[in-house]
Amino acid sequence: MKGIHIFLTAVALLAVSCIGKQGELIPYKDPSLKVERRVADLMKRMTLEEKIGQMNQCVGLNHIDESQAGMTEEDLMRNTAQAFYPGFLKEDIAQLAREGKIGSFLHVVTIGEANELQQLAMESRLRIPLLIGIDAVHGCGLVSGTTVYPTSIGMASTFDPELVYISSRQTAHEMRAIGMHWTFAPNVEVARDQRWGRVGETFGEDPYLVSLMGARAVQGFQGDEGLEKDLVLACAKHFAGGSQPINGTNGAPTDLSERTIREVFFPPFQACIDVGATTVMMAHNELNGIPCHANDWLMQDILREEMGFKGFIVSDWMDMEHIYDLHRTAVSVEDAYAQSVNAGMDMHMHGPAFVPAMLKLVEDGVVPVSRINRACSKILEMKFRLGLFEDPFFDESVVHETLLKEEHVQTALEAARKSIVLIENNGILPLTDGGRYQHVFVTGPNADSQGIMGDWTFPQPKENVVTFLQGLKEVAPNTRFTFLDQGESIRYMNSSRVKLAGEMARKADLNILFVGEYVNRKDWNNKTSGEDVERGNLRLAGLQEELVKNVLDSGKPCIVVLNNGHPLAVEWIAQRADALVEAWEPGMKGGTALAEILYGYVNPSAKLPVTFPRSTGNILSVYNHMPSHYFHPIVMENPMPLYEFGYGLSYTTYAYDNLKTEGFKKGVLHVSVDVTNTGSVAGEEIVLLFMRDDYASMTRPVKELKAFTRVALEPGQTKTVNLQVDKQQLAFWGHDGKWIVEPGTFTVMVDTLFTTAELK
Ligand code: BGC
Repeated sequence: MKGIHIFLTAVALLAVSCIGKQGELIPYKDPSLKVERRVADLMKRMTLEEKIGQMNQCVGLNHIDESQAGMTEEDLMRNTAQAFYPGFLKEDIAQLAREGKIGSFLHVVTIGEANELQQLAMESRLRIPLLIGIDAVHGCGLVSGTTVYPTSIGMASTFDPELVYISSRQTAHEMRAIGMHWTFAPNVEVARDQRWGRVGETFGEDPYLVSLMGARAVQGFQGDEGLEKDLVLACAKHFAGGSQPINGTNGAPTDLSERTIREVFFPPFQACIDVGATTVMMAHNELNGIPCHANDWLMQDILREEMGFKGFIVSDWMDMEHIYDLHRTAVSVEDAYAQSVNAGMDMHMHGPAFVPAMLKLVEDGVVPVSRINRACSKILEMKFRLGLFEDPFFDESVVHETLLKEEHVQTALEAARKSIVLIENNGILPLTDGGRYQHVFVTGPNADSQGIMGDWTFPQPKENVVTFLQGLKEVAPNTRFTFLDQGESIRYMNSSRVKLAGEMARKADLNILFVGEYVNRKDWNNKTSGEDVERGNLRLAGLQEELVKNVLDSGKPCIVVLNNGHPLAVEWIAQRADALVEAWEPGMKGGTALAEILYGYVNPSAKLPVTFPRSTGNILSVYNHMPSHYFHPIVMENPMPLYEFGYGLSYTTYAYDNLKTEGFKKGVLHVSVDVTNTGSVAGEEIVLLFMRDDYASMTRPVKELKAFTRVALEPGQTKTVNLQVDKQQLAFWGHDGKWIVEPGTFTVMVDTLFTTAELK
């Protein structure tokens, strides 16, 4: 290992030497010069082909090997997680890197491979380092041995943007320790269809919450004031509208009014750009008839001109090609590449075909060379800013000092504790270890599985993860737990085990069931949720409902824990179980956090960042709907949500009083409210302030979140909470296609209290 390091250091020194063979100074290699100067110098030295090479990304060499062994060429069209390049061996891809025809790699998931790839780039003519990207969405969980935090939907449930910031910063450190420079996160889409398999990857349904969380994630990844050298590029994705697809399926068309796009979907991207997001990824879907990847209105007019985006845009997986082979608004792959780059795309994800095709398109005058220059110089700028020209390698001998650091694991645990939502509790919780329920029967597909890690992770070493069952045993050593394994794969549950569960439940004092979804990326074809896997309805999949029924029919007390990334229609379970807990996908320490909550060592504080509809037919079901949304009834069904955004219980109770406002002063509304812990245990309450524009020239939502905070309260303690709303937060997209803030009265709502504020 040491020998390799000395060798790589020597190569790095060669890379940084700013003296050429003839003894001349090479400005782009001189770290004392300004980035703009270095970019300009390097651009002058590059051929057109090399510039296009910088715009091109490929999957890692080990990934190619693994995919080639396990998939056919037909699989390539649909698969968005694995790839190889027909006609190209991995040696050919390595050769392209040596020739400077690849600027970036993704899906490099083995520690060490990043260095091997950089080594190839150091053999190229200009020794331009590679940018290595990965989906580090909630920790760098695609790499074994890293810290895995709760998925974004859980992080949103904490209503604690600081936790998002801290975990993103820690993730950035872990990424750099293993040679990764660019995370394809945060996903700041606003989740508007609960069937969509990627809801768990988002911060939920509220544009304001998503904006705050997304912006803090960007700052955590990149740095507080823009990109810092030792951190990583963030990528606000996917632009735009893919989280409200027709049928709820990933990548399906999105048809939305400009008002909805601007009011709901754009604000989180603006928030990320305002704090310096360096990259944006376009969305798979077509938006109102135009594939996002060929949409110059989105890329040029909105992102660059209106929002002031200064970084580079990356395509999503094979979506430039899909302009031709899926959307059919291009007549060939070459036409698709031309449309996309001309519309503003800067980097192609992924594959070797792009470079020769783009070279010809430029030579033929179809794509102006100015587009190539702009794209390439932006990509180079980021490489310089990250310090890659000085040292593209990472030090394998010190990786262990950064991965899974104690403070990272503690953050993962704290986040899990704050993200688990107590939904129903008839008083059975919290449990007492060694108390009334001596013998606890545990079952369900997610009881002892890495399903707690959520999507965008690969299985982690067992010793790094605390499953729910392990957590229970750890936290309640004086209780006897009996476990019946139902297997992890929800699609293939065994009916005799489901039946047996009912029998075993009768013999226990208490039953705890772990149900939900299956998102194992290594078992892609059997997943029930996650990327590219949608549900046609929101009921528990497979034999899980039968399992819950069998256990409930035992007549013994029962706690149901949900482990999933999107809301489920669980009304009947909520009515029959003694307690219902939404654990989301709480990450590597999820088992500990859940058990601490069940046994009362931690008081749950999380609230839902997304609405739970009562049935699939109630989609679109969001809390910030328009006034007429529920005007007429639905036959023989209650159309109202089962649990609305912002709902969540605690082991204590809170009373709100004294909601006050003195109106807008200098454009800011100051609101105060007294919150008292009226129960017998300490807790942290999330205080949510909603507003409604009472009468306006366009219809306005019945309520919208405008401010929130967390407040810690001892039993009996009262605190006055002060919240502020800037009048710009009340703007909406008016009749004449402009943002307007209309004077008038606004209802201010906190808990069940409300008051009025007037904007003159
Ligand atoms: C996903 C992106 C992701 C990319 C690379 C795509 O299928 O939509 O979100 O960043 O793959 O893994």
